[in-house]
Amino acid sequence: MTRSSPTTASRAKLGILLSGRGSNLLAIAQAIDRGELDAEIAVVISNIADAPGLAKARELGLEVVALSHLGLRRKQHEARVVSALVHAEVDWVCLAGYMRLLTSELLDAFPLRIVNIHPSLLPAFPGLAAQEQAWNYGVAVSGCTVHLVDSGMDTGPIVLQEPVYCHHARSAAELSCLILEAEHRAYPLAMQRLIAEPWRLEGRRVTFGETLP
Ligand code: GRF
Repeated sequence: MTRSSPTTASRAKLGILLSGRGSNLLAIAQAIDRGELDAEIAVVISNIADAPGLAKARELGLEVVALSHLGLRRKQHEARVVSALVHAEVDWVCLAGYMRLLTSELLDAFPLRIVNIHPSLLPAFPGLAAQEQAWNYGVAVSGCTVHLVDSGMDTGPIVLQEPVYCHHARSAAELSCLILEAEHRAYPLAMQRLIAEPWRLEGRRVTFGETLP
């Protein structure tokens, strides 16, 4: 069993990895500003130099690093990402629309400290375009999942899920919007729980709270 204690000495430092729009980055930053997430964003890293999320991070005055993966082997690129995260002294790595599968280079540098958000109720609809997958399948309920990251694609232990009823949407696009709203609530909440509460991993179950004597 793996145990984790709350980060108490100082505010937890987050490193955010993104490749695109950056709305989850904003949601995390806003939750910090509202005092709902006891953390600070130490660095925002993107493999895409002109990612809109990186521009948003700059506007917020955050430390920003662009590290292109082009022309590099996967592990070479990740070694550079790890260096930037270590340099920023991050406690947690939050993937927020980071469009790269991780290798052992990152996973081993931050064991059980890498978190992702996915726009479906995993294990349903892993991979790309999860909202469209759910809509086209015709499920009654979809939603979002915050999970610890392992070497698989969207397979790690689940931290928190928020359901969304598909009948509230009239199209895949509307469902995506509703799920994104849920993501913006779920990601900061999940991070606050991971940071502030004791939790343990029993098999692949993330269990919050003290263990009974
Ligand atoms: C979100 O839908 C998230 O679930 C997925 O990538 C998208 C990122 O959106 N992993 P944003 O860049 O945070 O707006």
